[in-house]
Amino acid sequence: MRLYALGGLLYILSVVPVGGWAASSKPCPLKVKETIIPPRGWQQHGVPPPDHRIVLRIGLPQPNFHVLEKHLYEVSDPYHHRYGTHLSKEETERLVAPHQESVDAVDEWLESHGIKQSDLVRSPAKDWVTLTIPISLAEKMLGTKYSVWKHVDGDEIVRTTSYSLPEDLYDHIDLVQPTTMFGRFKRNKSTIVWLDQKEAPQTQNFKATVKSGPGATVDPSCNRTITISCLQQLYNAVGYVPKAKGNSIGITGYLEEFANIQDLQSFYADQRPDALNSTFKFLSVKGGLNSQNLSEAGAEAGLDVQFAFGLSHPIPATFYSTAGSPPFKPDTLTPEDTNEPYTDWLDFVLSRDDTPLTISTSYGDDEQTVPESFARRACAGFAQLGVRGTSLMFSSGDGGVGDNDPNPATQQCFTNDGRNVTRFIPSFPASCPFVTVVGGTTGVPEVAVSRFFSGGGFSDYFARPAYQQRVVEQYLAALPEGTYNGLFNRAGRAYPDVSAQSDRYRIFLSGRPVLIGGTSASSPAFAGIVALLNDVRLSRGQPPLGFLNPLLYSKAVSGFNDITIGHNSGCGTTGFNATKGWDPVTGLGTPNFGKLKNLI
Ligand SMILES: *[C@@H]1O[C@H](CO)[C@@H](O)[C@H](O)[C@H]1NC(C)=O
Ligand SMILES: *[C@@H]1O[C@H](CO)[C@@H](O)[C@H](O)[C@H]1NC(C)=O
Ligand SMILES: *[C@@H]1O[C@H](CO)[C@@H](O)[C@H](O)[C@H]1NC(C)=O
Ligand SMILES: *[C@@H]1O[C@H](CO)[C@@H](O)[C@H](O)[C@H]1NC(C)=O
Ligand SMILES: *[C@@H]1O[C@H](CO)[C@@H](O)[C@H](O)[C@H]1NC(C)=O
Ligand SMILES: *[C@@H]1O[C@H](CO)[C@@H](O)[C@H](O)[C@H]1NC(C)=O
Repeated sequence: MRLYALGGLLYILSVVPVGGWAASSKPCPLKVKETIIPPRGWQQHGVPPPDHRIVLRIGLPQPNFHVLEKHLYEVSDPYHHRYGTHLSKEETERLVAPHQESVDAVDEWLESHGIKQSDLVRSPAKDWVTLTIPISLAEKMLGTKYSVWKHVDGDEIVRTTSYSLPEDLYDHIDLVQPTTMFGRFKRNKSTIVWLDQKEAPQTQNFKATVKSGPGATVDPSCNRTITISCLQQLYNAVGYVPKAKGNSIGITGYLEEFANIQDLQSFYADQRPDALNSTFKFLSVKGGLNSQNLSEAGAEAGLDVQFAFGLSHPIPATFYSTAGSPPFKPDTLTPEDTNEPYTDWLDFVLSRDDTPLTISTSYGDDEQTVPESFARRACAGFAQLGVRGTSLMFSSGDGGVGDNDPNPATQQCFTNDGRNVTRFIPSFPASCPFVTVVGGTTGVPEVAVSRFFSGGGFSDYFARPAYQQRVVEQYLAALPEGTYNGLFNRAGRAYPDVSAQSDRYRIFLSGRPVLIGGTSASSPAFAGIVALLNDVRLSRGQPPLGFLNPLLYSKAVSGFNDITIGHNSGCGTTGFNATKGWDPVTGLGTPNFGKLKNLI
């Protein structure tokens, strides 16, 4: 809180007068494009070194994005005649291309600052231009001054709280980053909860004996330890063997989280012997590394690949390692400021034709630490993958209705908009309406994880999409009058969409079996089931599922086990309750593969 006050003060000092640094060869008054208040926990910490170089990313408007969105909803609606007719890479690019006028105006501006065409890297649709320049030039172009900002955790970044654009370019540029982007897709913010590895038992020879729901039974050990076999039993996928050609599944890794192949083999030997010796394709994004040093194995990466690939074997699997390793030190030894992993990954996958049909990501941050303009562009990137036929899963976060800090003692629930009022803190990308968000359950029969856990709530940036209007309104109508008034945006995109087991997963990490949990576990588990559903579609000669939500909330609703017990505490409250029907704790519920395969 003290830091917040200090940040606020420094913010006022760093406001730049309009036109302040306009010194280009073609003078045009500058107009402030974006001003933010630095998120809590950040403190200004001096000026960046003069030779600091910055990878500036300029987003040009996508004037036809609403057309892409219309296509997305049509091809994803199981009752629409265009269902499954996904767009090609080229068709998608045409729909996000900026006006030529915008391309020309931006080029002219860059040229006036001495930047050559050959210094620019463009996305295939030309909606992003990236250039690496000295920070002094960026400051001149954007009428701003960058500072080094230091987080209470020790992370350092180079950012500003406000930037401007020449008036005649104002409508030709959506956003420029890094400027106001303080979000950190931190390893500690990857949604993982550690558990005592002493508790990891051997799990062999299951006998189905415990009731998991109406008419279904699972092995009693699944109440204590989650394995591949438990998920197959709980989600009614025992004995299903994928057979279709052309299927694929992917896991994204960030922040030097490496998926270790030896650990994967140990896991397969333990839980999926028929998958032994199979592995995944490794793709490096922006120079992302692939250490196979066993002691550097990543817990998040291990959890994700072991369960997603274990559940979907033998569907071809890919692991992405995107570069970027906070804490970033803005010193002369690390001269380039690259700290926007989502857009780096999106650039990479959108420019290729081999994107997996199902992808799971277990990283996120508080929505309010990501500027809205950036959140909208990243979300638009996810929509492009959806319209091309990829299903994207994200974990909902582990802080209940609060920020992504699962520790109630340190969790903070204040707005960052200068008002400093108490508010539930939604997560991004969970708040993006174009992705499928997975919350957390535990136990047999399944209940919501009622500690500070299953992230859920309502976006402050994104409006509620039509596909969930009915069920979310039903949920809100049943809330006692005045519940949490002012703490959340009743009109916002509500999440999670679905849920899956999220606690006490048995994985192998650096050679040892450990138990691990978090919605970090539920997202790859749900993705594994989605990959199996794609196998069902493809083996019938049907197109893949693509963007899932319009299907999940309509035709597929009865394919979920409704979770009605538990809640997601946070912000000093008990959060929302799991209820009959959709709820902002467990969404529509956990998957019943056997039912879903007949509904899709
Ligand atoms: C914000 O609110 C909290 C809780 O009421 C308080 O402790 C803190 O000092 C406030 N911070 C500012 C900057 O007003
Ligand atoms: C954050 O992650 C690092 C590396 O995994 C770990 O060493 C550290 O203890 C974590 N910090 C907190 C506060 O959890
Ligand atoms: C699962 O564990 C919980 C908590 O330990 C217990 O209350 C419940 O009865 C167990 N369920 C079964 C089916 O054994
Ligand atoms: C894996 O490879 C080993 C050594 O080549 C072989 O003995 C074993 O049968 C293989 N397992 C499977 C499931 O292919
Ligand atoms: C493996 O990683 C550990 C920890 O980073 C390091 O100490 C060790 O030297 C590495 N081993 C090899 C063979 O590189
Ligand atoms: C959750 O359920 C409890 C117990 O029935 C009730 O007291 C509380 O008001 C409910 N909370 C919400 C947000 O619905």
